[in-house]
Amino acid sequence: MKKRLTLLLTVMVSVGLAQAEPVNQTHTINKRYLIWPVQRQAKGMKPDCRFFLYMDDALFTFADVQLPQGKPDFWVFTDLSGHQGKVLRIQSDLHGDYRAAFQKVTLSNTVPGMRSVYHEALRPQYHFTSKRGWLNDTNGMTYYAGEWHLFYQHNPYNWHWCNISWGHAVSNDLLHWEELPDAIVPGPEGVIYSGSGAVDFHNHAGFQTGSDKAMIAAYTGNGLLSYELGLNRVQCLSYSNDRGRTWTKYSGNPVIENQYNAKDRDPKIFWYQPSQHWVMIDWENRGWYHINISEDMKNWAETGAYKSGGAECPDMFEMPVDGDWNNTRWVVWSGNGRYKVGSFDGRSFTEETDVQQSYWGQAYAGQTFSHAPDGRHIHMGWLRYDKPGFDAGHVGMPFNQQLTLPLDFTLCTTDSGLRLFIQPIPELQALRDQTRIWTDLTVKAGADPLADVTGTQVEIEAEIDLQTATSIAFNLRGQAVRYSVTQQELDCLGQCLKVAPDHGKIKLHLFLDTTSVEVFVNDGYAYLSAFTLFDGDDHAIGISVEGGSIRVPLLKVHGLKSIWP
Ligand code: FRU
Repeated sequence: MKKRLTLLLTVMVSVGLAQAEPVNQTHTINKRYLIWPVQRQAKGMKPDCRFFLYMDDALFTFADVQLPQGKPDFWVFTDLSGHQGKVLRIQSDLHGDYRAAFQKVTLSNTVPGMRSVYHEALRPQYHFTSKRGWLNDTNGMTYYAGEWHLFYQHNPYNWHWCNISWGHAVSNDLLHWEELPDAIVPGPEGVIYSGSGAVDFHNHAGFQTGSDKAMIAAYTGNGLLSYELGLNRVQCLSYSNDRGRTWTKYSGNPVIENQYNAKDRDPKIFWYQPSQHWVMIDWENRGWYHINISEDMKNWAETGAYKSGGAECPDMFEMPVDGDWNNTRWVVWSGNGRYKVGSFDGRSFTEETDVQQSYWGQAYAGQTFSHAPDGRHIHMGWLRYDKPGFDAGHVGMPFNQQLTLPLDFTLCTTDSGLRLFIQPIPELQALRDQTRIWTDLTVKAGADPLADVTGTQVEIEAEIDLQTATSIAFNLRGQAVRYSVTQQELDCLGQCLKVAPDHGKIKLHLFLDTTSVEVFVNDGYAYLSAFTLFDGDDHAIGISVEGGSIRVPLLKVHGLKSIWP
């Protein structure tokens, strides 16, 4: 029996070895992209081939890419804009029949399929998505020199989570985004997990070389997914001296070794002005968030820990209460949208509230921008398809997943204490196209004043006096955002939130895009988000009432323009 097993293993290994075909190809980079044909990756599918890319003989990155054995499902690219003139070497062992596909991996100034980018059937029209590949958490969000920098967990090479890098896009207005080359790509430290960003205005880390301030990214190197064995998750830095256009990993990485367990991750960094030091908050698997401080971002010492909303991706920021900067509190935020309010002395956090939640639904793992002007707290998250198995999303598309709208956070006094309020940023009003307004409407069961309204990118503002109705619904392309007066529950495409009417009224502010609905309730009291796939032909927008009638003093419906070229 043992003999037969050994024989079988020998045959398997030798077949595998016989199939592996080494490739080692060099190109002098004189075009913008390296293009790759790919077969769509199913959930959990491990690509057959791993590619190592070298620039002038130094390792640039490695990527697991599923080449097709026949016709590609779509094409992806490595943006080489920052590497013109260098010598690119691609090294791999092709395990399987990928020779023909590999011959198509080439330098090019165009990417097949790019003529229809942003116009694909399921492309969100005013939510951020990456041109190609998978995205999840927002990372490193920073405002600097008039630009909003958005980074995100990105698999540039396929449709599911893999090869995790920091994708990057910039905007002047928080609405229109220009995608730049990935800022931080996998290397010996492993794949590039989530983290945060800040500008080192006083050059404490010493990375600044010219007149631009150094932008710093703090990220987790997930060594468990490195090509090197025996590594763990560690906290690292990367920096840019050209307003985020090119990034250099700090040669002394990691700045924090693995501390607690194999899940330590997602560093949030910020400057603590009163005692003049940097702070890094790291998430640890048992639900703790550890506080580390440093003068130079390279040497860190732990000063405390706190428990908050339980999930990864911590954020932490100081906010004025009701807009008054003479009366501030700190908010500690978890990636699941739960938070606590309290005080922070630069070394430890003291809570004043239990865990609270104003952010509901499918948005996850978001964060606020560092250095936002006017003391604003603007957050963007990952509006995920989170059904069990994560096995769907933007089905059939060359991209997957999307981000939330940019959200304005404020901290307000309420009858039940200090609470975060969440509103769409007012900048979004610039996307409004055609507005229709109804005043003093009475809507009864069976009547629909919106019967002639259609659209796929729509914003609705409604102030509703619930009167005798038992439930009211906005019907959006065959799906519903329903408020049950009897249950005091808002249901947005299956994502639910308990919310009581305010003096018999409820205010709903809805945003519908190609594959999402977001609802802001009672002037920011709660935010609820949902990813969905609509029936392509159904564009009908409507309102319906059950059990009695409602009065709507003001109802506005806006069309919204696309943010894409
Ligand atoms: C949250 C998360 C982070 C991690 C990243 C990996 O969605 O699990 O904790 O850094 O995603 O992509």
